[in-house]
Amino acid sequence: MASLKEFADKVRETASIVDIIGSYLTLKKGGANYKALCPFHQEKTPSFMVSPAKQIFHCFGCNVGGDVIGFVRQYEKVGFKDALEILAKKLGLAVPRFAVSSYDAELDQHRTILYEIHTLAAEFFAAQLKESRGRKAREYLKRRGIGDKVFHDFQIGYAPAGWKNFLRLAKQKGYSEKALEDAGLIIRSQREPVHTDGRMAAAEGETRGYYDRFRDRLIFPIFDALERCVGFGGRVLDDSEPKYINSPETHIYKKGQVLYGLHRAKDALKQTQSALLLEGYTDVITAHQFGFANAVATLGTALTEPQARLLKRYCSDVFFLYDGDEAGQNAMLRGCEVLLKRDFQIFVVTLPQGEDPDSFLRTSGKEAFAALLDAKEDFLQFFLSAAAAKYDLASVDGVEGKVKAIDLVRPLLRSVGNPIYLQNYVHRLAEFLGIHEHLINMYLKDVGVGATTSVRNATDKLAQGIQEKRLDQLHSAEKGLLRILVEHTDVRDQLKELGEASVKTDTRQSFCTDFDPEWIFDARVKKWVRLLLSGDYVCQTDSAQGLLADLLDRCEDEEEAAFLREVALWDEAIEDYPSILEEIILRLRLRFEKAKTARLSEEIQQSYTQGNQDQILPLLVSMHSDSQRIVKQLKDQLGL
Ligand code: CTP
Ligand code: MN
Repeated sequence: MASLKEFADKVRETASIVDIIGSYLTLKKGGANYKALCPFHQEKTPSFMVSPAKQIFHCFGCNVGGDVIGFVRQYEKVGFKDALEILAKKLGLAVPRFAVSSYDAELDQHRTILYEIHTLAAEFFAAQLKESRGRKAREYLKRRGIGDKVFHDFQIGYAPAGWKNFLRLAKQKGYSEKALEDAGLIIRSQREPVHTDGRMAAAEGETRGYYDRFRDRLIFPIFDALERCVGFGGRVLDDSEPKYINSPETHIYKKGQVLYGLHRAKDALKQTQSALLLEGYTDVITAHQFGFANAVATLGTALTEPQARLLKRYCSDVFFLYDGDEAGQNAMLRGCEVLLKRDFQIFVVTLPQGEDPDSFLRTSGKEAFAALLDAKEDFLQFFLSAAAAKYDLASVDGVEGKVKAIDLVRPLLRSVGNPIYLQNYVHRLAEFLGIHEHLINMYLKDVGVGATTSVRNATDKLAQGIQEKRLDQLHSAEKGLLRILVEHTDVRDQLKELGEASVKTDTRQSFCTDFDPEWIFDARVKKWVRLLLSGDYVCQTDSAQGLLADLLDRCEDEEEAAFLREVALWDEAIEDYPSILEEIILRLRLRFEKAKTARLSEEIQQSYTQGNQDQILPLLVSMHSDSQRIVKQLKDQLGL
């Protein structure tokens, strides 16, 4: 039994990153690397690079990158294990049963059985709809105008009347009552079975107490993001109660982690970059039937964090099409909070009283629906209008109303992750209520404090960015140095020796006979160069690829990893490295020495103004005899 890591290593060894990525994107060779238009952001000129030598990819436009497994994970939007399975299939490798902890292995096996049971059930229900006993359900669908195409796309089915139809079939196929109960498809009777009417009468060898959860209902299978059936919703064919019966939460189904219709909406979500967020099964199906393929539903509950995360993989905007009643508004409020944390643009679409997307589309048609979408309101506007309708905001004594309005949107503003958006929202809130912005900030206090720190962080970043730009040239030189060190073992050894040598610099013919990582300005580069040159550092492999993988493993966060990948893939291969190396080192040293001279002259200045005459002389000596001379010699060598 292989461990996940062993198998991942095998996949990495077997796969050619160029072939694998090439099977998804059109790659163009340019020098040692391959280029493509980045699939992870919009661009017109390729900044997405693939390195066959290092077996990694990196996009210089959006900083996404990683190894071959990382690519499949991000492109296919799947987890590590699923990515391995996809790759194994492409490579013709058999996927071993993974030797994970025995608890995980058991749970895994359990899940596999639950998926199987759901597939079996979905097929059973779909087949029943075509049988003679499915006639009532077929007529119902027809009456509601659900067309053939969506009907197939969403694999709608029918659970026949009767207590043990599915139970019997599943047991025949070898599934235990325990497994079927865990799958949520059968229920154990609370009471003793009813003997008198015979409906629960059990056949030979059956436990009396179990019966099918879904009986005489239209069935809507629920799929997860990987298009596996994980649950069902069952609707009555008339007006009886309860209208819906749903699968309970199981080891494969968590209500807050799936979005109904996502498996059919993925492409449209990406294409339009927006999601229509609806409440129910029939709304989604009808929306798709009318060509609004970016419709998904939360199935009657408020949007959760995992669902927002799921959506973020595909789109940037969300349109709420919830019921306008109190419950609908509250669900929307909570959904907005979750979405704002992830920088979504949120809009609210208001349907006429008493209508849901399904009924509206059927009575008013596609164009009217599109017009409703166009008339969307931004979420803040929507909630402020709602507040204006509810409270007195206009009059001079509308103070209480204004405070209530702020209270209404307060949890929303507190959730905003992006400080620039927040500033915009506070500004609009101030305009709307006719209150000074700083008062609102004060009133939102904790919101204000959070915003100030994030604004400060943003400003710091900006300043840092500007500074970095000025240093860009040398910065590139530092990156080049790191790059050469990763690629060339001999240079590593050479520099290591230089660093350890105790010989005085000026006795050597060339200045490039000395090296100290201290000369490096960029802390990130410095860290890696230090590590590579330290005597303690050992890497099992000598290949550039292996070394890079090892360094990537040591990264503390994704930002650090992105930086390393950028360095590794930056520009073409550096072929003339001995001469470039010399120049890089000279330049780094020059900058370092210049800074040192500047510091010395500052100290001299200080000693002078403070009257510390006796300190000045040694400082002057060190400045003139050492630093300035070194600087001059360095300049000569560099031809400056
Ligand atoms: N819902 C539920 N159980 C109920 C009522 C509703 O699980 N008893 C969920 C379902 O997911 C349903 C959604 O809430 O799709 C929205 O409810 P509702 O608007 O009442 O149902 P519709 O989907 O509009 O169904 P229909 O148009 O067939 O009446
Ligand atoms: Mn409806």
